[in-house]
Amino acid sequence: MQKRTFASDNYAGVLPEIMEALQAANNGHASSYGADEYTAQAIEKFKSHFGDDIEVYFAYNGTGANVLGLSAITQSFNSILCSELAHINVDESTAPEKFTGAKLIPVPTTTGKITPEEITKRIIRLEDQHHPQAKVISISQTTEYATVYSIEEIKAISAVAKKFKLLLHMDGSRICNAAVSLNKNFASFTRDAGVDVLSFGGTKNGLMFGEAVVFFNRELAKNMKYIRKQGMQLHSKMRFIGAQFNALLANDLWKKPAQHANRMAKLMEEELKKIPSVKITQSVDANGIFALVKPTIIPELQKEHFFYVWNDQTSEIRLMCSFDTKEEEIRNFITKLRALSNA
Ligand SMILES: Cc1ncc(COP(=O)(O)O)c(C=O)c1O
Repeated sequence: MQKRTFASDNYAGVLPEIMEALQAANNGHASSYGADEYTAQAIEKFKSHFGDDIEVYFAYNGTGANVLGLSAITQSFNSILCSELAHINVDESTAPEKFTGAKLIPVPTTTGKITPEEITKRIIRLEDQHHPQAKVISISQTTEYATVYSIEEIKAISAVAKKFKLLLHMDGSRICNAAVSLNKNFASFTRDAGVDVLSFGGTKNGLMFGEAVVFFNRELAKNMKYIRKQGMQLHSKMRFIGAQFNALLANDLWKKPAQHANRMAKLMEEELKKIPSVKITQSVDANGIFALVKPTIIPELQKEHFFYVWNDQTSEIRLMCSFDTKEEEIRNFITKLRALSNA
């Protein structure tokens, strides 16, 4: 029997259409390191979404995409402001610090989002040689709490970046979930909202591997090919990343898995709301649900459909849905949760 969990969208496998694209690309020889047709076509697809005047660099994983993008736009005397919960702050070891040399400045958050007020408070001592020089604001879309910034919220953060001559980076490891949640095209909440550099995620939405760093100002990418190689993210058989993005971005394939995952999260939310002992802690905007449950039931509940505990102290759990989550699994989970809660 196939086993599925609510642990992470990274636990899910690969979309069948992506497997087919990989298989189709496995055809004879192709130039390496990105000089192949698949990569060229994938870059064209990104241009069709974001405009011709962009630079696109593929990477293996999300940490790599974030670290490379941030490395391209910082120097080691800079600082990067991000949410205290940001993946770059808590889940990338010290890769961002190691490769950029810059200091991460965590901004407090209760929703996963950071606000212009809290960011501004931390942009201090500009041009003071003794102090880390703020250079980048980094936001995650969707956030680590699976909440989604509105276009207005992103524009307001971008206004802060512009005011202080900083750059705006977006960790879009779940950008497809954000786009379907907002029901907007990719450019509207990235480039058009003032984002300068974007990590465009593929893996969490059904790719086997592959993310892209997208620069909306070509000048910012001028050293990127060296930075990527130095950062060990230059894939020799790049055609297999290109082929996957080609398939994902063709005929809006990307929408289907993201819509499904978000819809499953909504169903989970609706069902959880009916259980009095459960308290949902965050707005369910995309494919994740955060909820407080009785701590004593967690080990038993994890047995059939594994999930992670987000906060041991408060007994807050994180339930992630993915493109292959089945309605039936949600119903099973809820039945078990209800039974355990009443026991
Ligand atoms: C917000 C966020 N950014 C980036 C990533 C990418 O991480 P990885 O390096 O594991 O692909 C993740 C994965 O969990 C994430 O949740």
